[in-house]
Amino acid sequence: MTSAWTEPAPVTVRVPAKVNLELLVGPPREDGYHPLSTVYQAVGIYDEITVRPADTWSVTVTGPFADLVPADDTNLALRAARLLGGDAVDAAPVAVSIYKRIPVAGGMAGGSADAAGALVACDALWNLGLHKEELEEIAVELGSDVPFLITGGTAMGSGRGELLAPVLAHGTFHWVFALSDTGLSTPAVYAECDRLRGDAPVAMPAPKPEMMAALRSGDAHALAAVLENDLQEAAFSLRPDLGGVLAEGLGLGALGGIVSGSGPTIAFLVEDKEAGIDLAVSLTASGLCPDVRRASGPVHGAHVLHGSRSS
Ligand code: C5P
Repeated sequence: MTSAWTEPAPVTVRVPAKVNLELLVGPPREDGYHPLSTVYQAVGIYDEITVRPADTWSVTVTGPFADLVPADDTNLALRAARLLGGDAVDAAPVAVSIYKRIPVAGGMAGGSADAAGALVACDALWNLGLHKEELEEIAVELGSDVPFLITGGTAMGSGRGELLAPVLAHGTFHWVFALSDTGLSTPAVYAECDRLRGDAPVAMPAPKPEMMAALRSGDAHALAAVLENDLQEAAFSLRPDLGGVLAEGLGLGALGGIVSGSGPTIAFLVEDKEAGIDLAVSLTASGLCPDVRRASGPVHGAHVLHGSRSS
């Protein structure tokens, strides 16, 4: 008699990048992390994470930024799969494949997105049926913004960025991202922020009512006026060329611009899709940034795909 057991089919998850619309940073905590008050928005630049049953744990990376991602035990997606496998089910190994479109070390949560994607993919492969909240609890162990990449949309983050609360936001916002050739290390940018502040007293961060009002209005002009990132000065200090990119985009008609997370990507908010195409063309022609991407947000967090390129 033949066995009825069949190996589970591979699962592919699509997971977005993020931009911080507001990133307010407090004084360092005893554990070295900084208390944050942030507003995340998930934007439509996606990595795809595929997991399939295998004899040993492994990870492979393809796509535009593949060369910059470690394909070894330090890979965050592989660590996420192993963590969930160990915690939840003592699971058999999986082979993880990543199709990478989110810039690496760009301030858009590329590594965190892959970790979030791997958790959602393994949950589906192993039929665990975990709730979003349960996955987010595991996600915290992998990085401060991994829980947000599971949630997606627009959300407030506090604590070190991992404590999420919903935000009432209307409409769709259109973004143009000016990428960099080289990344910035997140710990280095936080350390530079502390260094620049010196001994000056730093208040605990709190969400700003103006940001909440702008998001409720759905008005890109209102949102552009309140974009704020406490890490921007530190990113500029480490990468003085970024100031020129920001000024260029604003001069070319962006409604607003900001360093994305810890940088070095610069995020420009534009009126609509057409304005985004115009700005992307002009920024590319300026020669100031090697690569430009357009995306809109908010979009959903990590979700299972059926019939994708990498499954
Ligand atoms: O949490 P995650 O691993 O993504 O953080 C990477 C690094 O960024 C931390 O080791 C820390 O140096 C810095 N960080 C911080 N405060 C936060 C988040 C990150 O200092 N709230």
